[in-house]
Amino acid sequence: MPTFQWRENLRLGHPEVDRQHLEIIARVNLFQGALDAGEGQDRLVALFDDLDQYARSHFQLEERLMEQHGYPGLNAHRAEHARFMARVAGFRSRLLQREAGLPRAVLRYLEEWLVQHLAEVDTAMVQFLRAARRAK
Ligand SMILES: [Fe+2]
Ligand SMILES: [Fe+2]
Repeated sequence: MPTFQWRENLRLGHPEVDRQHLEIIARVNLFQGALDAGEGQDRLVALFDDLDQYARSHFQLEERLMEQHGYPGLNAHRAEHARFMARVAGFRSRLLQREAGLPRAVLRYLEEWLVQHLAEVDTAMVQFLRAARRAK
């Protein structure tokens, strides 16, 4: 049973960004499902890598949109993404070392970071993008 449930307040109002957020959450839940099912290390790492890769391409989309529209918060937002990716890279090597309890800590971090990032940083970005579109 996934603990990271999609909720309406995670929908920010930009269809492509929202669709990708759903995809990211689906990948977090796949990772949790594999963990709950007692799947092996290889499967966990593969799912983790898939999530990481998807998140990276999602960040690229957001950063491209912010660049295209001259978003003033671009650098701060980009720094948030970079911090996340660095953290995920650290988790990956600890995952490979089979550190006890690590997968659960990873899940907690992913959910907390995503909920907070969507609620604050991505929300501000989407509001700006929507206003920019209306002004056209
Ligand atoms: Fe996002
Ligand atoms: Fe973002």
